[in-house]
Amino acid sequence: MITQSLAGDRRDTPVSIRPDRRMIFGGDYNPEQWPESVWPDDVRLMTEAGVTTVTLGVFSWAAIEPADGVFEFGWLDRIMSLMHEAGIGVTLATPTAAPPMWLIEQHPEIMTVDESGMPTGRGGRLGWSPSSVVFREHALRMVRALAEHVADHPALVLWHVSNEISNENGHTFDDETAVAFRRWLEARHSTIERLNDAWGTAFWGHTYPDFEHVRPPRSARTHHNPALLLDFERFTSEALLGHYLAEREVLREVTPDVPVTTNFMVMRSGGVADYERWAREVDVVSNDHYTMGADPRRHEELSFSAARTRGMAGGGPWLLMEHSTSSVNWQKLNLAKGPDEMLRNSLAHVAHGADGVSFFQWRQSRSGAEQWHSGMVPHAGPESQVFRDVCRLGAVLGRLDRVVGSSVAQGDVAIVWDQQSVWALSTSRTPHDDLPFHDLPIAVHAAASRAHLGVDVVPVDDDWSNYPVVVLPNLWLAAQGMTERVDAYVRAGGHLVVTCRSGIVDSDDQVLLGGYPGAYRETLGVRVDEFFPVPGDTLVTATVGDGATWGARHWTERVEATRASVLSRWVDGPRAGEPAVTLNEVGDGEAVYVSTMPDAAGWDALLAALAGRWGLKPTVTAPPALEAVTRRAQDGTDVVFLLNHGDEEARIGLAGHDHVTDAPFGGVVPAGGVAVVATTAEEARA
Ligand code: GAL
Repeated sequence: MITQSLAGDRRDTPVSIRPDRRMIFGGDYNPEQWPESVWPDDVRLMTEAGVTTVTLGVFSWAAIEPADGVFEFGWLDRIMSLMHEAGIGVTLATPTAAPPMWLIEQHPEIMTVDESGMPTGRGGRLGWSPSSVVFREHALRMVRALAEHVADHPALVLWHVSNEISNENGHTFDDETAVAFRRWLEARHSTIERLNDAWGTAFWGHTYPDFEHVRPPRSARTHHNPALLLDFERFTSEALLGHYLAEREVLREVTPDVPVTTNFMVMRSGGVADYERWAREVDVVSNDHYTMGADPRRHEELSFSAARTRGMAGGGPWLLMEHSTSSVNWQKLNLAKGPDEMLRNSLAHVAHGADGVSFFQWRQSRSGAEQWHSGMVPHAGPESQVFRDVCRLGAVLGRLDRVVGSSVAQGDVAIVWDQQSVWALSTSRTPHDDLPFHDLPIAVHAAASRAHLGVDVVPVDDDWSNYPVVVLPNLWLAAQGMTERVDAYVRAGGHLVVTCRSGIVDSDDQVLLGGYPGAYRETLGVRVDEFFPVPGDTLVTATVGDGATWGARHWTERVEATRASVLSRWVDGPRAGEPAVTLNEVGDGEAVYVSTMPDAAGWDALLAALAGRWGLKPTVTAPPALEAVTRRAQDGTDVVFLLNHGDEEARIGLAGHDHVTDAPFGGVVPAGGVAVVATTAEEARA
């Protein structure tokens, strides 16, 4: 069995990854997949594009260790030297995302097993069980050999552990996992009686006589006990993190001065990993982000993703480790990016704190499973729109080195993120199970952005008590102490907004009785006795004070305002005439309950009313479609990122130098365009 010490151990995020404080710009580079004769051309094109850093080695285990214990570093030495001579830094991946065929052949038992008990076939990537002792041994031997070999290489700037751990090995139901899961449960619940109690196993007579009887939740004819599923999610996240930590320990021992990261996928729906927790263990937070081409509101999802990643990095800088220059190859319809979309996407991440923009991958593959995924150098070669766009981005980023190491100023609004709630909601059968968790927090974040309120996404375990406004969206699970924390925040003068589907269960997934939302009922001054989901896309409407209405979908409740006053009532829908939104004065603060899921205009109306009431000031005066985020550079300059998501030009009264056009800013951002305006205090006044 594999165990790890799991106390958080993040070293201070370096102010800059590259010693020369330049932006990281580049991508996954897989030279071993190309003839060596191509390499000089790569170097020439990278230089032309302004690439500063590449990620080598992500899937190169078979190239480094072609046979058991036989290591070949010649090719890696040659390419690292070529990079170094060209002034290009190397983020080096440990290649453990791609166990070689010889290892799988020798030890098929390292592979994950699916819910039905079938072992994963070979031919993909990752695919190993984090609880496999044999895999761990081979992986750590590889990591040590690699680290010792490159320890003194001047090109090495950052370690990148494996690749998207959890992506293709998220849940596994193998026998070694069963053993590890039992030991994890013993540590969590101490006795089997406590486990039975916590899980409520009296239901359907599921009582376990012994920990040895518990198994990972393989396919069953009915829904599993949700508390078992929730603990399995927690265990899985810790088991995968345990693999990362084991690799990190070897790297820290051999190369103590090189920071370590692993690339997250924070917006992966459902989410296997508790990234807010993992973030405490990486020296630099890095994230991979791909837009869904067919989603017309994909920019809102992107901004939320970037803000959430910044929140995990404690508000400080982070890295965009992967995105795409144009289409991906894993959606049903893989749309090419539109004009300026790649530039807008890239700069939106930088606006929200990224100190680097990298892509999957440098050269679009000729063969293999991702030959139809875009790259920085497409099949057509450098004579292509994509490569021209890459060069343009490189030039813009080259002018933005001044923001490296800087932060986005803390906003007025904190949206609290809680992975436990994501899991608890997705593992239970609730009155409405067709509501992606992310939609509600994204909608709040987008509305705050349109209103130009400073808004952050903050991990639930961080201190959010100094934010003027705190929003709990879908925080279904209230961990021990959360009720008191939230109440104390409001009493001390805070402004709380709780949405429907919050504060419903405790950490054991047991419903808090006596009326919903059990955890926050007293603070909110409301009591709900039943939920009334709204089918399909039906819009229900509610009033606002001045006779106007706003709309919502999917969810309503029978809300009794026990102490709260009613801010808004339903005009129609299942609860016509009853409270939709309430406000309770508690101590020096106010607690608002939004018992539904407002649409975009609904959130705009609610936020406008609350911002007015609470005296929140916009950070800029600009049209709603113009997203504006400011990073304060090390030299004291404000660098304002302006992203026009609308289809009309947007005007803003701001003077300064636009780093996109490299010319004075004229106060207009074209439809779909982007400007990055560096403005000193004098320029801003001009
Ligand atoms: C990521 C992965 C890359 C590549 C990319 C394609 O999830 O890390 O290796 O597969 O997706 O979009």
